[in-house]
Amino acid sequence: MDLDWKNLGFAVRKTDYHVRCVYRDGKWSDLEVSPDDHLSIHIGATCLHYGQESFEGLKAYRGADDRIRLFRPWDNARRMINSARGILLAEVPEELFLEAVEKVVLLNRNYIPPYGTGATLYVRPLLIGTGPEVGVRPAKEYTFLVFVMPVGPYFKEGFKPVSMVICRKHDRAAPLGTGHLKVGGNYAASMSSVAAAHEKGFATAMYLDAREKKYIDECGPANFFAIKDNTYITPDSHSILPSITNNSLQVLAESFGMKVEKRPVPVEELAQFDEAGACGTAAVISPIGKVVDEETDRVYTFGDGVNPGPVTTRLYETLTGIQNGDLEDTFGWVKILQ
Ligand code: PLP
Ligand code: COI
Repeated sequence: MDLDWKNLGFAVRKTDYHVRCVYRDGKWSDLEVSPDDHLSIHIGATCLHYGQESFEGLKAYRGADDRIRLFRPWDNARRMINSARGILLAEVPEELFLEAVEKVVLLNRNYIPPYGTGATLYVRPLLIGTGPEVGVRPAKEYTFLVFVMPVGPYFKEGFKPVSMVICRKHDRAAPLGTGHLKVGGNYAASMSSVAAAHEKGFATAMYLDAREKKYIDECGPANFFAIKDNTYITPDSHSILPSITNNSLQVLAESFGMKVEKRPVPVEELAQFDEAGACGTAAVISPIGKVVDEETDRVYTFGDGVNPGPVTTRLYETLTGIQNGDLEDTFGWVKILQ
């Protein structure tokens, strides 16, 4: 495959196959392989009308040894089960999820970017209510599919500091709503504020807790973390998505001998942090150079604004080293496919 691997961006790109199955009469069908990028569904499908859907995001990495690795795919499977319970979708059993992910990655192995390009194969599992209902109630039929595409970094800056703006006029998730689930409605709710942030030249919007607007929730499609002295700090909130990347960084920080604090993080505490970052599968780690609070006119800066800080860099290098096989997988996070 001859693609401009270093300049892929984060965009939809055609690959050869996706895999899918259907839940009907209380059971899942066998997985089917399809070369078609389109789906024919009933116009009354609950995913179309009432947002009854969940998705996941993980990546396949090609190592220097040419082996293909997945990072903690079982955690994505479990999170999708949790999302399904939250909005009453049929649950995809962990084994079926893993089988589908492995199958679609191997079927599209030619699209897994070469080692050293900084690009990876993004894997997008999707679970949708495809049975029709016009009353607001769960569908009786569901489709689970997984498709893939080679991608570069989510934030075009890659591993370079970005600027973010605090979002005070809008919330992506209610205090006791669905923010902790990976469901489409949260992303629909974030589109206008993220677009407004982009228009002003920021990489994304930083959301605050919806109840008091005092604490940091998360950053667009990524969790927030900060470094203060020898401590890794990350918000604890019901309305943020439990990020597998963030959890991994907490484990790595501990392994570096750092303290880890998961607790409410007041906005003003930004002034005390040595380093800050956004983390997620798509974003990997995006160092934050600047956060602007337009309401208070405060501008918080981290480091020299040009280079990522030393702890962020160490976390990034260790995480990506484990993911692509350069470093030993001492935590049992990697599934080698071949
Ligand atoms: N927060 C949101 C809102 C996300 O969409 C994602 C992406 O999945 C994350 C955080 C990061 O989660 P993870 O590290 O599991 O990809
Ligand atoms: C991911 O990081 O995998 C995500 O799902 C974020 C997404 C909204 C691009």
